[in-house]
Amino acid sequence: MKKIGVLVSGGGTNLQAILDAQNSGIIKSGKVSVVISSSAKAYALERAAKAGIPGVCVSRKDCVSKEEFEERISGALSEYEVDIIVLAGFMHILSSDFIAKYKNRMINVHPSLIPSFCGDGFYGLKVHEAALAKGVKVTGATVHFVNEITDGGKIIMQKAVCVKEDDTPEILQKRVMKEAEHIILPQAVELLCADKI
Ligand code: GAR
Repeated sequence: MKKIGVLVSGGGTNLQAILDAQNSGIIKSGKVSVVISSSAKAYALERAAKAGIPGVCVSRKDCVSKEEFEERISGALSEYEVDIIVLAGFMHILSSDFIAKYKNRMINVHPSLIPSFCGDGFYGLKVHEAALAKGVKVTGATVHFVNEITDGGKIIMQKAVCVKEDDTPEILQKRVMKEAEHIILPQAVELLCADKI
């Protein structure tokens, strides 16, 4: 059984999808052992508490440097003996030193079909704003390994979602989460935990 550490910054619907998948048996080769949030206000921390999972807050604002921020995150990951890291709505770019430590053990969910609408500056709602501005008719989500290139690691899974005529970024974001992210992220977590990728 792999120990999973989930890094979050906000609402935590992807964290919830992982916790639900654990309960329903979609994830059976791993277990979330800690949730680390970069914001004390993140609702994701409440989701962790409700599930009885330890939540740790490492706020970037409380750290004097990025090094300290990452050292504190690494410290929490070691304390809970984490094998696998899932970035589930984690809104910070990690350094190449941090990424190297967890090579092939860290995955991210991104709310577009990479290589569209990804890389530095494309996160959260901005991704959906860009997709609508471009006028794409299909978008989706991607789960990929994290490497030193933002959203550039090997793709594990993708799922397409239709864009509708009257979509706002908020409406599209919700559809992409429900129809793609919340489905492929737990599946990818299980594959990684079961050593199948
Ligand atoms: C999700 O759509 C996730 O894919 C995105 O932020 C949202 C977090 O929602 N992540 C990124 O944009 C990272 N580049 P959640 O907190 O409800 O899971």
